Amino acid sequence: MEPSWLEMRWARPLYLAFVFCLALGLLQAIKLYLRRQRLLRDLCPFPAPPTHWFYGHQKLLQDGEMEKLEELVGKYPCAFPCWVGPFQVFFYIYDPDYAKAFLSRTDPKSKYLYKFLIPCLGKGLVSLEGPRWFQHRHLLTPGFNFNILKSYVEVMAHSVNTMLGKWEKICGPQDTIVEVFEHITLMTLDILMKCVLSQETNCQTSSTHDLYVKATFEASKIIFHRLYNFLHHLDIIFKFSPQGHRLQEMVKILHQYTEKIIQDRKKLLKNEKKYGNTQKRKYQDFLDIILSAQAENDNNFSDTDLQSEVNTFMLAGQDTMAGGISWLLYHLALNPEHQERCREEIRGILGDGSSITWDQLGEMSYTTMCIKESLRLAPPVPSISRELSKPITFPDGRSLPAGITVVLSIWGLHHNPAIWENPKVFDPSRFSQENSDQRHPHSFLPFSAGPRNCIGQQFAMIELKVAIALILLRFKVSPDPTRPLVFLPQIVLKPKNGVYLHLKKLP
Ligand code: HEM
Repeated sequence: MEPSWLEMRWARPLYLAFVFCLALGLLQAIKLYLRRQRLLRDLCPFPAPPTHWFYGHQKLLQDGEMEKLEELVGKYPCAFPCWVGPFQVFFYIYDPDYAKAFLSRTDPKSKYLYKFLIPCLGKGLVSLEGPRWFQHRHLLTPGFNFNILKSYVEVMAHSVNTMLGKWEKICGPQDTIVEVFEHITLMTLDILMKCVLSQETNCQTSSTHDLYVKATFEASKIIFHRLYNFLHHLDIIFKFSPQGHRLQEMVKILHQYTEKIIQDRKKLLKNEKKYGNTQKRKYQDFLDIILSAQAENDNNFSDTDLQSEVNTFMLAGQDTMAGGISWLLYHLALNPEHQERCREEIRGILGDGSSITWDQLGEMSYTTMCIKESLRLAPPVPSISRELSKPITFPDGRSLPAGITVVLSIWGLHHNPAIWENPKVFDPSRFSQENSDQRHPHSFLPFSAGPRNCIGQQFAMIELKVAIALILLRFKVSPDPTRPLVFLPQIVLKPKNGVYLHLKKLP
């Protein structure tokens, strides 16, 4: 009788390999099953919305209407677990006491979101951890000190005026509908180009920089898609997917753009040193600060670190600011009485706005209340996340074990009806001194809090004030009722279909 193929000599190793893989697969399946059972047991004290056994709540938040999140915040007090696939949970919190307990710890950033950001940002402040993060934060903090920021007011005003010049040309004497988000995005890019890199790019008036702006937009969209598509959490699957390929192309565009600028600056400094003709620039930019940090810490701050920090500032400071200014303008368009009150205050301080100084920004108290109310209603960074390095017990006694990914939903916190009366209403008086004093300090966190809060928050508040002051002096804004603003929650909040406003030039 012929021997079966299994008895052949060559078949043995194949057979053994097959049994080995089967055993490995089985072990992995058991591990995953036990992980799911453990998660189900640990999360038992926290009620959750109905879930699909395989997809979990993937559909619920991926498609991203913020109203869905608001509904859940009203229904499930303090927190709820959100399943992304059968074995992974993002634990959403939106209560001030929960936020305080969460932000007072030093858990590492969640490997999901931040790991997915690394191809774009590199290992900079946003994604670093431990002593490396501390070293970078310590070296870069001087870039945001009062004297440096003071010198940016004029730079910012110049970029805002360039945008307003464009608007005047588009509008003429008539009231015109304009999609302002794109203009504001280019304006914030222009400001960062100047403050981070001292680059006069004319990006607002020439279209050669569109590629960079579009690449930031598309990269952020792909990363967000990956976050809520658990199969794409695996590098091997994502890398070979069409989105993975596209992200690589976008990252190449972003990095080539900043790398060229850094190399040009290094050449310039080398030449200046060589020929002894050091030119005094009008202000110190972030690249100066980072280069001097590098010079002082030669061994600890490589060229890769330098490039990562430049990319981090460019990306962390652009989309957030474009959103922050656009949402503010939109909220003031919807609320003409508050718009008028801001305009009166600004006129009283700036006159015709031909110049604007640091001290004047400090006098804009009503405008600041409106800025804060807009940051509450539409926080540009809608959530942040961490992976618990040790168990946490919340003030109500419920706890979570180590290893869980906790997402602080800043949007949820800012729309939590348990903290904010009529949370959907734009009411700047919430931020009067008296009302602020009565609220839990962790109720309003647009820039997060604790050691890993936003390093650029002062910069952001200055830019918001300069932009809104100069815009309101020259234009009256009102909404286009046929095109209401719909938010798209990506890593940073985006408009789904642009931000359309009626602009009317003021005499
Ligand atoms: C309205 C505008 C802005 C908002 C709402 C905002 C919000 C935030 C938030 C919530 C975080 C914490 C992220 C986390 O913990 O995962 C953060 C971190 C950060 N932001 Fe901002 N940001 C804004 C503007 C800026 C600007 C203009 C810059 C720089 C020029 C900047 C640079 C950074 C950096 C580098 C970090 C990481 C800090 C660290 O981990 O040490 N941000 N921002």
